[in-house]
Amino acid sequence: MANNVPKHIAIIMDGNGRWAKKRMLPRVMGHKMGADALDRMLNAAGSLGVEHITVYAFSTENWKRAEEEVKGIMGILREYINKYFREYINSDFRVDSVGDLSRLAPDLQEDIARLKEASKDRKGIHLTIAMNYGGRDEIKRAVQKLAQRVKDGELQPEDITEELISQNLDSYPTPDPELVIRTSGEFRTSNFLLWQSAYAEYYITDKLWPDFTVEDLKDAIKSYQGRDRRFGGRNEE
Ligand code: IPE
Ligand code: IPE
Ligand code: MG
Repeated sequence: MANNVPKHIAIIMDGNGRWAKKRMLPRVMGHKMGADALDRMLNAAGSLGVEHITVYAFSTENWKRAEEEVKGIMGILREYINKYFREYINSDFRVDSVGDLSRLAPDLQEDIARLKEASKDRKGIHLTIAMNYGGRDEIKRAVQKLAQRVKDGELQPEDITEELISQNLDSYPTPDPELVIRTSGEFRTSNFLLWQSAYAEYYITDKLWPDFTVEDLKDAIKSYQGRDRRFGGRNEE
């Protein structure tokens, strides 16, 4: 496993609802078990050599769901963030976020800011949680920032490079993910890391997210290690 492990793995943690439905449980229970699956995975990932993990927790489109479910997910996020603040205060995780946090409850925004500050110098796994995240929304906000600088006369349109756009995304300066995992068998990005995953390898498994194990993570990494990444060029023999 040691060689060629992706430094950054991004995960679309899908299938919590189906997991609960199969057991005739409320959807929120699926989300709770999903949070436990994330915990298990994070505790194992460090020893595999992964440096950054970005997880899709709540999308800009997920507000369309029933109020009860949205509330339930927000409650779990709040618990999760506080748990990381309390239990892992002496641990090694460095926690970050991507997404427009301004739409979240003010106390949750404060908890996230506190956790980021408290963990910023840690050297262990860098965990980025995508909350109220949409790839298009992130690009839109980056474009707005750059447009403002053009308007203010600080920047010429021709000076806008791919690099500059990357630097204005929420994820900066985290490197782009080499591997994107999606659970529950759906073959779509659902607006996740659109810019950053331009050349990522995708790994899709039928496993529902709450059932996802460390072994599944290892399988995903093995699959990645067998890929021929060409980046549009040709790997001459
Ligand atoms: C993913 O699980 C978690 C979130 C989107 C918050 P889902 O809730 O989408 O689960 P399914 O897709 O309905 O099974
Ligand atoms: C993507 O899953 C978002 C998260 C995992 C948070 P969805 O369940 O929202 O995506 P769709 O609706 O199947 O595209
Ligand atoms: Mg889903």
